[in-house]
Amino acid sequence: MDQTQWDERYGAREPVWSGRPNATLVAQVTGLTPGRALEAAAGEGADAIWLAQHGWQVTALDFSAVGLARAAAAAAERGVADAISWVHTDLLDWTSEGPGFDLVTSHYLHLPSEPRRRVYAALAAAVAPGGRLLVVGHHPSDLEVGVQRPPDPDLFFTAEEVAADLGAGWVVEQALAAPRTGTHREGHEVTIHDAVLLARRV
Ligand SMILES: C[S@@+](CC[C@H](N)C(=O)[O-])C[C@H]1O[C@@H](n2cnc3c(N)ncnc32)[C@H](O)[C@@H]1O
Repeated sequence: MDQTQWDERYGAREPVWSGRPNATLVAQVTGLTPGRALEAAAGEGADAIWLAQHGWQVTALDFSAVGLARAAAAAAERGVADAISWVHTDLLDWTSEGPGFDLVTSHYLHLPSEPRRRVYAALAAAVAPGGRLLVVGHHPSDLEVGVQRPPDPDLFFTAEEVAADLGAGWVVEQALAAPRTGTHREGHEVTIHDAVLLARRV
């Protein structure tokens, strides 16, 4: 989906997402010392808001101005507007200003493999020494279980693939396919998987 399509989706009356932070973010970040966080593909802002509520100073990126407006309104309602900078940018053009973030996180950004590798390299470059990169996406095996996914395998990745691109200077703390319950196109429950990469920059 391009920027216009995401704007149209976020322009609908009902929220697109639940308003709750992603469970993997909560599980992986709880217990870390808060600092500066960068979130890529922030959507309606639930993850950035959760981070801000837990003491992080957040920069949140997305190319949907409509999504970001929703996110900023939600942050203001929850009293954390001052802790989040919302940045309207296309991640395909975004470059890091240096390794200034203690946490860089992105959930469910699905790009073709060539731009994806470039974007994740730019995100990794934004992690400070001692900081962490958390990348979560729908696992390629989801294409086999009948859930609603775009039918292009190039849009999906494993945690191991993202880890391999990091190269030296990183400790991979987790690289896994985490199971959870999803909904089959015909309505019943199925087990799906998330690719979860957590790595610490040394
Ligand atoms: C599936 S949503 C995930 C939103 C959020 N991370 C979450 O988990 O709820 C993907 C998000 O990526 C954003 N996005 C997709 N391609 C992008 C790009 N090239 N640059 C910036 N944002 C992009 C979309 O606007 C959308 O908000």
